[in-house]
Amino acid sequence: MYYPEQLVEEIRLRNDIVEVISGYVKLQKKGGRHWGLCPFHNEKSPSFSVSGDRQVYHCFGCGAGGNVYTFMMNYENYSFPEAIKALADRAGIALPEPEESEDVRRQESRKARLLAVNKEAAKYFYYQLRSPGGEIGRRYLLKRELSEETMHKFGLGFAGKNGSLLVQYLRSKGFADDEIQEAGLASHSEKYGLNSQFWNRVMYPIQDIHNRVIGFGGRVMGEGEPKYLNSPETPVFDKRRNLYGLNYARRARNSNIILCEGYMDVIAMHQAGFSQAVASLGTAFTAEQAALLRRYTETVLLAYDSDGAGVKAALRAIGILRDAGLTGRVINMEPYKDPDEFMKALGREAFEERIRQAENSFFFEIRMMEGRFNMEDPEEKTKFHREIAGKLCEFSEEVERENYLQAAAEKYFIGVDNLRKLVTSQAVRTGLAKPAERPKSGVRPKADPEKKAKRAQRMLLGWLSEEPGLYPHVKKYLTPRDFKEDLYQKVAERMFRELEEGNVNPAGIISMFEDEEQQRETAAIFASGPPVTETAPEKEKAFRDILLWVKQNSYEYDMAHTGVDVDALTRALEGRKALEELAKAHISLD
Ligand code: UTP
Ligand code: MN
Repeated sequence: MYYPEQLVEEIRLRNDIVEVISGYVKLQKKGGRHWGLCPFHNEKSPSFSVSGDRQVYHCFGCGAGGNVYTFMMNYENYSFPEAIKALADRAGIALPEPEESEDVRRQESRKARLLAVNKEAAKYFYYQLRSPGGEIGRRYLLKRELSEETMHKFGLGFAGKNGSLLVQYLRSKGFADDEIQEAGLASHSEKYGLNSQFWNRVMYPIQDIHNRVIGFGGRVMGEGEPKYLNSPETPVFDKRRNLYGLNYARRARNSNIILCEGYMDVIAMHQAGFSQAVASLGTAFTAEQAALLRRYTETVLLAYDSDGAGVKAALRAIGILRDAGLTGRVINMEPYKDPDEFMKALGREAFEERIRQAENSFFFEIRMMEGRFNMEDPEEKTKFHREIAGKLCEFSEEVERENYLQAAAEKYFIGVDNLRKLVTSQAVRTGLAKPAERPKSGVRPKADPEKKAKRAQRMLLGWLSEEPGLYPHVKKYLTPRDFKEDLYQKVAERMFRELEEGNVNPAGIISMFEDEEQQRETAAIFASGPPVTETAPEKEKAFRDILLWVKQNSYEYDMAHTGVDVDALTRALEGRKALEELAKAHISLD
């Protein structure tokens, strides 16, 4: 969603940072500033300062800082458009309705209907659980030691034996049969007509990060197959991109997130006070979910089942977390099967101890590997060491690799130099561990402020930040040096690094700049996402045009500077080559 720069600015000006932050942090005026306890780290004496003159905040303790948008994004974990929306609402400023095509509008209103029918169904199940007919469901949940409060927090419900009642209820609320069906709530049969999918089960509504009900999991009470019945994928229920419990976990203000396997684990963890627990949705953990988590944390603690399947799933998840740039640690649940059972048996403090002892994911992987080899046999032992070396190759950063190498050598009694040699030979064999190419730093003086070029640069950055999936398609044509605006080049350097890791952190990028003007300009980048266009080919054309403008402008700039900058000619030649390739290339947006 694109908001014009002036509007972003107006909303910012109408939301005084001191007033906004005062709603969250107790501030006291001292000198020209307001001071309080920093909400972004633990402290006993105030080092968090807010300046009304400069409309910025800064923490002298942890370095957090930015403008009012930055604050909302960091504190509420909002995306930039969400922060704009919240602050516009606060100031009573109406946001323009996006100009959407008929198609997009129809899709959006369809989605809104599906969300509405899910919400109504959740209400229905909720009241069923609390009605006399839901007694059996209540007994089941109480037997599993859930408190009233927990049942309420997670909106737990009950689907009774009469499957036509739900349908009648939803019809009475104005929903059409095809809407009920498309939401996966009911299906048609010869015998019963339109009938509820969920039958004689306790119901777990699944919410997205905005607390909207997007689907359901229904559990049999006791034994029975399938144990859980889940809503099918629908236009509002994308199992790859949502996590159970994340709507609460993202506000938990904890430095980590605990990833569990099951709905029940999440619920039990929250009940015990670990409100940073989440779980995937009846499917394996995905790269999309990892990218989502990366918005909220750097460390994910795996609390998977301690059986063979759980270990296998944990190993898979570790790889995905690592690819997303997240640190993974594994919580040992032994002798219990899962967090739910652990919590019932040993309770909160024992679990906290397990969190403290959580094993680094690298050593977990190696320990699991170790079991496959017979250490008495020198040949097998060598193979094991080779596998350790192979794993070490996965660290592309030298310092990190070296640190792990030393730790592994010590732990498994291998000579450090021997292991290093093994790593080198493994790396050469597999072509891994080459130093990553980083763009040279050094920022150009301000280029000719030609409006169109500047706008193209801003739009390209904004678009890439909103659709990180495009980055792999363009990175061979584009470098941060193509952004001739001083500020954009700095932003591009940082953003491209983050895109390499699969995730852009706008608030972090804004906070790179101390100057309010620069923050505002940076914020404006994140306000300009992809334009809303009619069709996919149009969108592709728009993207291509913007990319070409940026490259063309960069090429012309470099050509004009070959006399004053020795590197400019090289860059210009590379730029021309990229332009030629780009002229032939097809860039697909999906
Ligand atoms: P578990 O069998 O570990 O379930 O499956 P659980 O959450 O611990 O539930 P309880 O304690 O037995 O009640 C883990 C997750 O796998 C999915 C669900 O998301 C479940 O929470 N699952 C499992 C299904 O989708 N369908 C099934 O039949 C079983
Ligand atoms: Mn369980």
